[in-house]
Amino acid sequence: MCGIIGVTGAADALDVLLDGLERLEYRGYDSAGIALLDHEEIFRARVADGTHSVTTLRKVVKADYRQRAAGIGHVRWATHGHPSEGNAHPHLDCSGRLAIIHNGIVENHSQLAARLIKAGHVMVSETDTEVLGHLVEEQLRRSGGLLEAVRAALAEVRGSFSIAVMSADDPELIVAARRISPLIIGIDGAVSYLASDIPALLGRTRNLLALDDDQIAELRPGSVRVTDLDGQIVEPRQLIVDWDVESAQKGGYDNFMTKEIHEQPRAVADTLAGRVDASGTIVLDQLLLSDEILSGLSKIVVVACGSSFHAGLVAKYAFERWARLPVEVDIASEFRYRDPVLDETCLVVGVSQSGETVDTLQAMRHARESGARVIVVCNVVDSSMAREADGVLYTRAGPEVGVAATKTVVAQIVALELLGLHLAQVRGSLSGAEVAGVLDEMRQLEQLLEETIGRAAAVEEVAEAVAGARDFFFLGRHAGYPTALEGALKLKELSYLHAEGYPGGELKHGPLAVIEPGCVVVAVATGGPLKEKMLANVAEVKARGATVIVLAEDGDDEVAAVADFVISVPAASDLLSPVKDIVPLQQLASYLARSRGLDVDRPRNLAKTVTVE
Ligand code: F6R
Repeated sequence: MCGIIGVTGAADALDVLLDGLERLEYRGYDSAGIALLDHEEIFRARVADGTHSVTTLRKVVKADYRQRAAGIGHVRWATHGHPSEGNAHPHLDCSGRLAIIHNGIVENHSQLAARLIKAGHVMVSETDTEVLGHLVEEQLRRSGGLLEAVRAALAEVRGSFSIAVMSADDPELIVAARRISPLIIGIDGAVSYLASDIPALLGRTRNLLALDDDQIAELRPGSVRVTDLDGQIVEPRQLIVDWDVESAQKGGYDNFMTKEIHEQPRAVADTLAGRVDASGTIVLDQLLLSDEILSGLSKIVVVACGSSFHAGLVAKYAFERWARLPVEVDIASEFRYRDPVLDETCLVVGVSQSGETVDTLQAMRHARESGARVIVVCNVVDSSMAREADGVLYTRAGPEVGVAATKTVVAQIVALELLGLHLAQVRGSLSGAEVAGVLDEMRQLEQLLEETIGRAAAVEEVAEAVAGARDFFFLGRHAGYPTALEGALKLKELSYLHAEGYPGGELKHGPLAVIEPGCVVVAVATGGPLKEKMLANVAEVKARGATVIVLAEDGDDEVAAVADFVISVPAASDLLSPVKDIVPLQQLASYLARSRGLDVDRPRNLAKTVTVE
């Protein structure tokens, strides 16, 4: 989820790079860097100044950078290695004559690094990208040509990438390639451009081409030649761009939330990437807790706020079933005031997309002072929680601009469930075949999410039908209960309508009293073990005149018979279902907010990072 840009043949190459990075920076990156080349040397500048990185970069570049006609630039959202100048791109090889930028994740970077270091390469950063640079360097020694070297290096890489590589030996040439991570090329007269995102190039050219997976482009001033990994010439796709810069920043979507909903399959795939080795063992290398400690645990306590708390609730079902450990899930702001019983056999798991939420941070500090082991699941590398915890499990959802959490929540659920499986492996509470079965299913989540997101039009119709309602109740049972809570939270924060989430079984203990015609009940009745009971709850609210929307699995005729509206989702096993069941509830909230003319990216009274108690 980094941003990249490159240019060759431009009299104002430095401005192209800085202006392009500025247009990518709006999403909130942590560092930025550029490299401009001539035959003699590489002019490189990098800064890690949070969201001000590009502004600071502008101040540190020197006048002689202006004389170079080719260069590459990058804004980084850290995944491997904390945000720092040393980890910012571009990275160089051992000779200092080759520069590389990268967006994506090199899954086998540890194995590649071990081999390269043994062969004498010196790594000076913590990034997977630098490994890629040394790999190209190694191949360059053999092949002598940058294109061949990149092609040979990429044949060894597992994972996702869009890269751009330059060498001072041929400074007009940029070699760029992609697999999974996006990459576009632009040509305007004698100038050639590349970028990860359209906004970076708008204002420069609208003559854009898109690379497909495993295609490599050789850019020279005013020309591009694209080949596949076998060296066969391919015709890149022409991109028709009728966006202005603002809508391009939103990827052509109406708002960031919709864009981020569509980024969920990628967020899940990246969170899983490289975390299961060839033998099927789950490797969470930044957890920093030995197998001995994990085997000796007596309980797990999850602390979090808001949507992150809901992800923690889903994890409770997974931890208990798979790792056979007792689990408590606490609202972080309540946790330290209840005098929790903790010792070194307790694992306290903070969950936070920002890593800065003060209630969660304080809860984690309290747990540490009480002697517990403390880890955090978060989306921001080097955040306060990540720095203070004993170990970290990063979600790799990329920057989230919309105030309402979407892609970070599904990534949290996946990360927490990976942790549950890891505990089960270490503690021997699941067989190898059982773990492998769940992992196989997790790998299918990316596709299930694509499919679910693609059904937005059906959710929009339901939203239109209930647009006049003011009271919404979300019901769920088992892992569908946190899904219901999340659906209610999204709806209230985006549409400002009254929405509550309940476990279905609680209905007759109070809430049923307020159910009457005009209320909308959204029932999560996907295939969990309590589906029949959920349908009994549906009958209860229907009998009292509520309008019922049921979230059901494809082909579930039993549900269709009792509901006013059915939102169908693809089937998955009960513990993984929340990952895709949350999607139509996000969409429902977004459509209802839109029908009320509200800004879904910036709901009133709320902040993306809550640093006050
Ligand atoms: C809801 C939402 C909030 C956050 C909560 C915790 O859409 O975004 O409820 O989930 O403020 O924030 P983090 O995860 O940053 O600790």
